[in-house]
Amino acid sequence: MLLELKNIQKTFKKQSILEDINLLVHKEELIHIIGSNGSGKSTIFKIICDIMEPDIGEVIINEQTQIGALIENPSFIEDTNVKRNLRFLGSIKKQYNESLVKQLMQRFELDYDSRVKLGKYSVGMRQKVGIIQAIMENQNLILLDEPTRGLDKKSLIELKQVISELIAEKKTVVIASHDNLSELKFDTRYMLEEGRLQLN
Ligand SMILES: Nc1ncnc2c1ncn2[C@@H]1O[C@H](COP(=O)(O)OP(=O)(O)OP(=O)(O)O)[C@@H](O)[C@H]1O
Ligand SMILES: [Mg+2]
Repeated sequence: MLLELKNIQKTFKKQSILEDINLLVHKEELIHIIGSNGSGKSTIFKIICDIMEPDIGEVIINEQTQIGALIENPSFIEDTNVKRNLRFLGSIKKQYNESLVKQLMQRFELDYDSRVKLGKYSVGMRQKVGIIQAIMENQNLILLDEPTRGLDKKSLIELKQVISELIAEKKTVVIASHDNLSELKFDTRYMLEEGRLQLN
């Protein structure tokens, strides 16, 4: 077990968003959480990453679990280039693997040595940098919130390939999205509706 959510509840301004969320995440699992806009997908990820606290409930994270995450629109330092941004993020944990980053960037057709400021990147380009930062530290539990947003056809194919490789490397990937991503072979699919996760 990598992660467990137990009876998570979250209310914003008296509006109950998460009613009773229970989730078990195991090694080498590809999980999909499907839910409409505003259903609470990003909130679940924020609670897992301890960006936000649940009102009630427990997040149990195995001590071997290392989380990499793309949540909503990732923030970067806008007035410098992509290399400096990713190097900075990696330096926080001292795990910057330059050859892996270069390889991922090449696969997503981004220029590692680009001098263009991140603030000037297109929506799709930013999304790719967000995906790269989520997986570049060899984490074993990857959370991807709407990962396909803004990606063109070619990049979508690459993303699916990258996700399959992560699973082949015995990692676990949890994807939240509003569409059903039928091209990916999920081990477990959940529907998030009215504050509850149900097997789909
Ligand atoms: N910090 C906050 N303060 C108040 N309300 C919030 C906050 N964060 C989220 N909400 C509300 O909680 C609900 C769930 O938001 P959340 O972002 O988790 O949904 P989502 O499923 O990720 O939606 P989307 O598909 O649009 O990304 C929404 O109604 C949102 O307005
Ligand atoms: Mg969201």
